[in-house]
Amino acid sequence: MRSPLPIGCALALLPLAAAAQQKPANYDEAAIPPYTLPELLKTQAGRTVQTSTDWNALRRPEVLGLFEAHVFGKTPAPTQWGKVVFETLSTTETALGGIAVRKVVRISLPAHPQWKGIEMMLHLPKGASRPVPCFVGASFGANEAVTPDTDLPLSTSWMRPGKDTGVVDNRSTEKTRGTEKDRWQLELAVQAGFAVATYYYGEVEPDRPDGWKEGLRAILSNDGPSTEWKDGDWGAIGAWAWGLSRIADYLQTDPAVDGKKLAVIGHSRLGKTSLWAGAQDARFGVVISNNSGEGGAALMRRNIGETTAIITKSFPHWFTKTYSSYGNNEAACPVDSHMLVSLSAPRAIYIASADEDRWADPKGEFLAGLLAQPVFDLFGKKGYGVPEQPGTNSPVGETVRYHLRAGKHDVTRYDWEQYLPFAKRAFGL
Ligand code: GCU
Repeated sequence: MRSPLPIGCALALLPLAAAAQQKPANYDEAAIPPYTLPELLKTQAGRTVQTSTDWNALRRPEVLGLFEAHVFGKTPAPTQWGKVVFETLSTTETALGGIAVRKVVRISLPAHPQWKGIEMMLHLPKGASRPVPCFVGASFGANEAVTPDTDLPLSTSWMRPGKDTGVVDNRSTEKTRGTEKDRWQLELAVQAGFAVATYYYGEVEPDRPDGWKEGLRAILSNDGPSTEWKDGDWGAIGAWAWGLSRIADYLQTDPAVDGKKLAVIGHSRLGKTSLWAGAQDARFGVVISNNSGEGGAALMRRNIGETTAIITKSFPHWFTKTYSSYGNNEAACPVDSHMLVSLSAPRAIYIASADEDRWADPKGEFLAGLLAQPVFDLFGKKGYGVPEQPGTNSPVGETVRYHLRAGKHDVTRYDWEQYLPFAKRAFGL
C-alpha cells in the first residue's frame, strides 16, 4: 500500500486536523475576544424606546420575532393543533406521605390522535383552603422518576440513557423510580403551599437529533416526518416549551389551582426551555432559569465554556436551523441572551448558576440579567441592585434575581429554598 507521507510526518499532522474540526472550550476569562451586544432598546428602524408602552408595542414584538427567526423557531399557531383535551387518568389522595393529592392528567389533541399526549403529573397541597399557586416544569425523566412515591406505572416512552437514571434500552425500569426526586423538591414546595405540575419532555419529542420524527413536530408539520426543517421552523426547545403552555391551559381549568399564579421552571436544556416558554406565554408570572447556560441565559458572545458552535453541533435539533450559522460567527446574530431575559419583563425572573458549572458560563448567566435591566426599569421593576456577580450562596435582586450556588450543574434543595419565597413575593402571597 502506498503511503502519501512518511509516517512521522503524517503523525505530526494529526493534532492539527483534529483541532480544525472542533475548537476546545476556552475557560480563560482573559481570552474572551471583545464583543459588542445588540442594543436592547433600539428598534430595527433605529428608534430608542423610552416607555413601557413603546417597549410592549414596538420593541418587544421585534425581539420575540428575532428569537423565533434566529434561535428557537416559530411556534405553530393554535389553529394548527386545534382543541386541547384533558383527561384525568388517576387521583391519589395519599401522595408524599399524605401531604399531597397527586393527579395524572393526559393532555392531548383530538385533531392529532397519533400523538399520545402528555401525562402531566400534578401534586397539590392537601386540604388547601383556596386555589394555590403552581410551579410548572418539564423533567428529564418520566413521572416515576420525579416522585418519591413508588406506586405509578412505569412510562413506556423512549428515554435518554444516563448515569444513575435506571434507564435500560431507552426505557424506564424499577431502578428509575425516584431518580429525579432531589431535583423536584415536591415536599418542600407543597409544604410552602405550592402545587407542582411536571411532564416528561420526551412525551412531546424524544431528545435526539432525529427525535422529531416520532414527536409532535412531525405530527403538526404539514409535510409529516419527511419534512426538512427550514430556517425559522421550531426546534425541540420550542416544542418542549409548547408542552409547558398546554399545562398552563389545563391549570386554568383546575379549581384547586390559581391559574394566574404560575411559575415556569427548568434546569439546563429545560432551563433554556423555561426561558423560551416564559418569553412566549405571559401566564407564567415567574420565570426560573436554573443553570440554563448556552442557548439559555449565558451570553452567546462570551466565548467561554460551551459555545454556539459546540451546542449546535451536539444538539442541532434544539434550535431553529439558522442558529447553527452563528457558530464562530456570534456577532452576526441579531440577539443575545440579555434580550431573552428582557422578554420576561415586567414579570419576575430568577437566574441561577452553580460555581462548578463552568460549561454553562455562570458569569455570562449573571450578565444577561444585569444587561436586561433597562427593560425592567421601564416598568419600575428593580433588578440585582449590584453591578458585580455575587459570591456563592449570596442571592441578589428583586424582580430580577440571581444566585451562584456552590457546587455542580444541578437543581438542589438550596435552589428550591430560594425559588419558593421568590415566587411567593412575586405573587404577593
Ligand atoms: C449539555 C449541553 C448543555 C445543556 C446540558 C443539559 O451539557 O451542552 O447546553 O444545558 O447538556 O441539558 O444537561
